Amino acid sequence: MSLNPNISENTSHILVFGMGGTIAGLAPNPETSPLQYEAGQVGVDALVAQVQSVVPKGVKLVSRQIANVNSRNLTDAHLTSLGLAVGQALLDSAVRGVVITHGTDTIEETGLFLQITCGKLAQTQSKRVILTGAMLPSNAPGADGPSNLLDALRWASTPIDNCPGGIYAVMDGRGCMAMDLAKRHATALNAPLQNAPSSSVGLINPSWLSGVKAVQAAWSEDLPIPQEGEWPWVEILTSHAGARPETITHWLSSSVQGFVLAGSGHGGFHDDWIEPLDRAMVQGIALVRTTRTGAGSTLPNIPELDAPGCRASGSLTAPRARIALQLALNAAKQANKAGKPLTWQDFFARIADLPEIR
Ligand code: SIN
Repeated sequence: MSLNPNISENTSHILVFGMGGTIAGLAPNPETSPLQYEAGQVGVDALVAQVQSVVPKGVKLVSRQIANVNSRNLTDAHLTSLGLAVGQALLDSAVRGVVITHGTDTIEETGLFLQITCGKLAQTQSKRVILTGAMLPSNAPGADGPSNLLDALRWASTPIDNCPGGIYAVMDGRGCMAMDLAKRHATALNAPLQNAPSSSVGLINPSWLSGVKAVQAAWSEDLPIPQEGEWPWVEILTSHAGARPETITHWLSSSVQGFVLAGSGHGGFHDDWIEPLDRAMVQGIALVRTTRTGAGSTLPNIPELDAPGCRASGSLTAPRARIALQLALNAAKQANKAGKPLTWQDFFARIADLPEIR
C-alpha cells in the first residue's frame, strides 16, 4: 500500500486505487512505437503526482496500489482485493469518492463486478466510484491517461446533487455506468465506452441520468464478494461453424461449475453440443446462453426452448455474464448456508433483468 505522505488519512480526500493497465504503461520507444509497451509499470503515486497540480482546489488525493498488472492477467484474487477495498472506502467518512486506474482490456468485468458487489453501498453512501484507464502508455506523445484521470477525479469530487453516488467510468471526456463499459475497439481512444450509453462528464445529460436512476432503483441489494479461493469456476465457450462435442465433454471430468455459451445469432449453439450439454446440466453445471454477435439481447426460449438448467443472459455480454454467473453461484451458496432456499438463477435474474439505459 502506498499513501500520499502529505495527507493524513483522516482529512477528507479522494482515494485513488491503482490496478495497472496502459494508463500505467511505459513504451521503450514512445516517439516511434508508442503501441509497443508494457502495461502496469508506473506506480499510482506517480500517476496522481502528474495531475496533482491541476485538480480542483481543496481536493486532497490519497493513492493506494492494489495491483500493477496488464488487466488481461487479472485474477479472481485481484477482484476480491479491489471489491473489499472499495467497500471499506465507501464506509470511511474521510473518503469523498474513489477513483480506480485500470487496464481497459478487462475493465468490462471489473465494472460489472463493482456494480453488483458495491453499487448499492455507493448509492446509499452518496459517493461516486469512477473507473478509468487509457489507450496510450503514460510516456506516449498525447497520452490520454492524465486527462482521463483528471476527469475521473473531478467527477468523483463534484457535489452529489447533479448525479447520485454509484459505480461509474470515464474515458475520453465521457462518463457511463461502469456496468455498461466494454472494450469494443482495439485502438480508439474511447474504445471501452464506444457502445455504452454515456454522457459528457462536464454536462450530465438528463436522459442518461434518468436511465442511471432507473438501474439504481432496480438494484436493491449488493451480492457478497467471494473470498479469495472461493470464486466459482466458470468458463466461456464459443459456438462456431464446425463446433465439436469434445469442446463440452472435455470439461465433464473437471470441477467446472458453470459455462457461459457465447452462441451465434440469438445465442443458439451447434447441434453437436446438445447431448453433451444435457449431460453437463445433469451433473449440475450451470448454463448461461449469450450471443457472440457483440450487440443485442439474448432472450429466453429464443430461438429454441431453454432447458431448465440453462438461462438466457439478457443484455449481458459473455465476459459480463461470466462474472454475473460467478457472483450468482457464490450468492446462492451463501444463501443456502444461511438456510435460504435461493438458486443461482434467482441471483442471476436480478443482474440480467436490470433495465438498460437507452
Ligand atoms: C490492460 O488492459 O492492462 C492493457 C490494455 C489497456 O489498458 O488499454
